Amino acid sequence: MIQATLHQLKVFETVARHGSFTRAAEELLITQPTVSSQVKHLAQGVGLPLFEQIGKQLYLTDAGRELLATCKDVFERLDNFEMTVADLKGAKQGRLRLAVVTTAKYFIPRLLGSFCQHYPAIDIALQVVNHEQITERMLENKDDLYILSQPPEDIDLCSQSFLDNPLVVIARADHPRAREKNIPIKALDDEPFIMRESGSGTRRAVQKLFEKHKISVRVRLELGSNEAIKQAIAGGLGISVLSQHTLYSEGDSKEFAILDVESFPIQRRWYAAYLHGKQLSVVAQTFLEYLLKCDESK
Ligand code: PGA
Repeated sequence: MIQATLHQLKVFETVARHGSFTRAAEELLITQPTVSSQVKHLAQGVGLPLFEQIGKQLYLTDAGRELLATCKDVFERLDNFEMTVADLKGAKQGRLRLAVVTTAKYFIPRLLGSFCQHYPAIDIALQVVNHEQITERMLENKDDLYILSQPPEDIDLCSQSFLDNPLVVIARADHPRAREKNIPIKALDDEPFIMRESGSGTRRAVQKLFEKHKISVRVRLELGSNEAIKQAIAGGLGISVLSQHTLYSEGDSKEFAILDVESFPIQRRWYAAYLHGKQLSVVAQTFLEYLLKCDESK
């Protein structure tokens, strides 16, 4: 049985996360020699080196990688245990680690606001990334819950949908077709188009529809954020397809028009997902139940 203290595991995990003894010492507010000696004792206990230094770069060895995965499990279970104990004592407290796709940032912070009012002892770590980056985070088991539109089929997930996410054609308010009804989808062929970056779920949904209808838009600009796309539309650079949630502020209805194009909106749903087999913490479970209450279709 390896002799290791929780403190040594914490020090090791911090070094591994930063790839640096110095930065780990800064985060943990201890000296660098203390960090080095804790890692050394741990490596002696394991009987194998945990890091190797090549030039200035610190790499995990195979044993180090295995230990890091074990540390993550241990810390996650301890966190969950603390949350369960708090729950048994009648309080919901702890940390919720949430990763959401970019468009969800238009409504998730508000939901989190009212959730945190109910449960003031819950802290939130929120990551806002695109679809591809969310799938990378899933593969690394980095978060408790994920909010996205298209749960990837090749990852074993439990997912439940809770809200509509229509994708609409957005143009500047003075666009010549702003008041037209039933615009044929072929009309998009002539429009300068602003597209989300590759790896975006919105882009994937748009491309799928365009392929189906053999539409080849003239992509004038590719941008990595919904807000930047809105600014480009407002600047007269073209039209785009975005989630209707992006038109959230009052001024948007004056500045933008939703074009009534055939086959739009693309009907999508929001899903809350977590890795199959993952033991959800009390806090994550509470937030999931809270989200599912938003389901308008029930
Ligand atoms: P995106 O995802 O931010 O990657 O475009 C949004 C979505 O999948 O609806």
